[in-house]
Amino acid sequence: MINRDVPAMKLAFIGGGTMAEAILRGVLDAQVAAPTDVAIGEPRPERRQFLSSEFGVQAHQGNLDAVKEADLLILAIKPQDLPVIFQELGERLRPEQAVVSIIAGAKMSTLSKGLSHESIIRVMPNTPAQIGQGMSMWTCSRQVSDQHREFTRSIVSTVGKEIYVDDEKYMDMATALSASGPAYVFMIIEALIDAGVYVGLPRDMARTMALQTVYGSTQMVMETGRHPADLKDMVVSPGGTTAEGLQVLERAGVPAAIVDAVNAAFQKSIKLGQG
Ligand SMILES: NC(=O)c1ccc[n+]([C@@H]2O[C@H](COP(=O)([O-])OP(=O)(O)OC[C@H]3O[C@@H](n4cnc5c(N)ncnc54)[C@H](OP(=O)(O)O)[C@@H]3O)[C@@H](O)[C@H]2O)c1
Repeated sequence: MINRDVPAMKLAFIGGGTMAEAILRGVLDAQVAAPTDVAIGEPRPERRQFLSSEFGVQAHQGNLDAVKEADLLILAIKPQDLPVIFQELGERLRPEQAVVSIIAGAKMSTLSKGLSHESIIRVMPNTPAQIGQGMSMWTCSRQVSDQHREFTRSIVSTVGKEIYVDDEKYMDMATALSASGPAYVFMIIEALIDAGVYVGLPRDMARTMALQTVYGSTQMVMETGRHPADLKDMVVSPGGTTAEGLQVLERAGVPAAIVDAVNAAFQKSIKLGQG
């Protein structure tokens, strides 16, 4: 049964790589679309073969064949492949079609100009979308219809949480915080595991402990709704071990370094967007 909360639409993915597969899996699992309503344009024959046999969707070599019947297109290619797509699809889309781009750094004005198309939606997902735990921020041009907006919302919610913003300037902030963020967290997880080994734990034990500590702490902030500083204070007893550890982190400037890291990624995103 297809999810009837949102109007049924036909979907076309341009590019059948990692992110397209994650979104496709989410959309089909949540029954937001049926396999027969999805087409994919993908140059690699082995990917086409995999996607059609795994998901029962149509996979085409030519992107024009893939988008022919689509109501909504999802551009899931690398930024460097955009010029080819502009050449192939530019001026060939119907005005009633909408285009969703998940391409990092591609601005709505660039997409609109390159495709000669006005109905543009920009989504910034992150890698945990691959396991349905993503964080996506999205925005769209004013020409996008309410039906396309709702369909997009239902698609991005199948791979995690989503936040809509009506100003594109927030996309550079999302790039810096949630899209780059998994790398920061993975680095912290790696350091915690190495630290466990350093003090004498076997690596597999240190890994389990580090992962469950990060996961449990995140869940605790989410479920209690309390400020992280309150929850941190609950762990710290006067003159105890945690106070000793936190003191080292403060002295090393870890909280300030995290702010600097997000700000550096933000500035870089703005710079890349200016070409
Ligand atoms: N991965 C993430 O978590 C993440 C997060 C935020 C944003 N994004 C954005 O998502 C986009 C896709 O990333 P990804 O990790 O899914 O990349 P990917 O796995 O490399 O997928 C891109 C796919 O597009 C295919 N392709 C190349 N040229 C094409 C063309 N002209 N027409 C149709 N398909 C074409 C590629 O085939 P070949 O391999 O043969 O080139 C590949 O299968 C990127 O722009 C990235 O910035 C990704």
